[in-house]
Amino acid sequence: MEPVIDPVAESLGDAITIDAHLANGHDRSLAEDVLDGLTRPFKELPPKHFYDARGAELFDRICELPEYYQTRTERSILNERAGELAHVTRAVELVELGSGTASKTKVLIDALRNAGTLERYVPVDVTERVVRDCASALTAEYPGLRVHGVVGDFERHLDRVPAATGRRLVVFLGSTIGNFPPGSRRRLLRELAGLLDSEDHLLVGVDLVKDPALLERAYDDAQGVTAEFNRNLLRVLNRELDADFDPEDFEHVALFDPEHEWIEMRLRAQRAHTATIRALDLPVRFERGEEMRTEISAKFTRRRIATDLHAAGLELTDWLTDRDELFALTLSRRSLSPVG
Ligand code: SAH
Ligand code: TRP
Repeated sequence: MEPVIDPVAESLGDAITIDAHLANGHDRSLAEDVLDGLTRPFKELPPKHFYDARGAELFDRICELPEYYQTRTERSILNERAGELAHVTRAVELVELGSGTASKTKVLIDALRNAGTLERYVPVDVTERVVRDCASALTAEYPGLRVHGVVGDFERHLDRVPAATGRRLVVFLGSTIGNFPPGSRRRLLRELAGLLDSEDHLLVGVDLVKDPALLERAYDDAQGVTAEFNRNLLRVLNRELDADFDPEDFEHVALFDPEHEWIEMRLRAQRAHTATIRALDLPVRFERGEEMRTEISAKFTRRRIATDLHAAGLELTDWLTDRDELFALTLSRRSLSPVG
């Protein structure tokens, strides 16, 4: 697909470029994912489809919840260590996967601007609106900073990340890496390693293993925002694939699986019924109490992520955590002797 240059952004000057690789959400692979996922013996849906405009807004509210310690903890680590990260990486460009509103990223941008190295920011996200809004906000806030936004799927479009203009820092925050099962996680890390040259760095945020009660609360808050975010997936299917789910027929479930050390998010049918995905001509039968998995969120130890990074041809060079060891940032570089 041809990159589309945003004429509005271009007229704002040379500061913003947007490449859109997902025309109106049509290339998000939603139909195939849904056909695969809902015909499996244990139904499941992949997480990237949560984030339509409403999903992105609900996610921002999750980040503000008292139970969701992840965002504020990751921000506090960045606040404390950004100067050091700027000094070590001396990044000329910052590439971010799943950038969202980039609110924590600004801490890094500030530090890299203060160090005088940063020239360009490259946010990559599936949600077109958030990429555009983030580009406008950041170019307004940081005069002289160029933003090259990529509307794309980081599982499929990393080859479209524009060629490096200098020393690079690639960041992947919010423990989004935890939303991939172990094999896909390593595949994705290996792809990220492919974005790095020998002088470049990768910064990945990971949520750490802890008391299951604390974890489950972070994914099942008292106000029900996370439940609404989970059910929003059904609204996406209704709108994009002409399905007839009643979101209220499904209950939000968040469980810690101690064997795998990950949180599973599910939607549980409250009554036996058949929903129809009209665009696929697909009836989907649910028994009463039947659950479909919508997300996993893996929790890490230092050893686990170091092993994953190593398997992906990366080497952990720094481990940045908070006092209570709730969350960590891993800094890594390409291994000198790549594996495999
Ligand atoms: N980095 C932010 C947002 C994390 S939420 C933070 O740390 O708070 C995950 C973000 O990744 C969302 O903005 C979502 O739109 C995006 N996303 C999810 N799956 C994606 C995919 N496959 N490709 C690109 N972006 C994706
Ligand atoms: N990457 C985030 C996490 O795993 C995404 C997330 C937070 C999420 N809360 C959620 C995804 C609730 C689905 C449902 O922590």
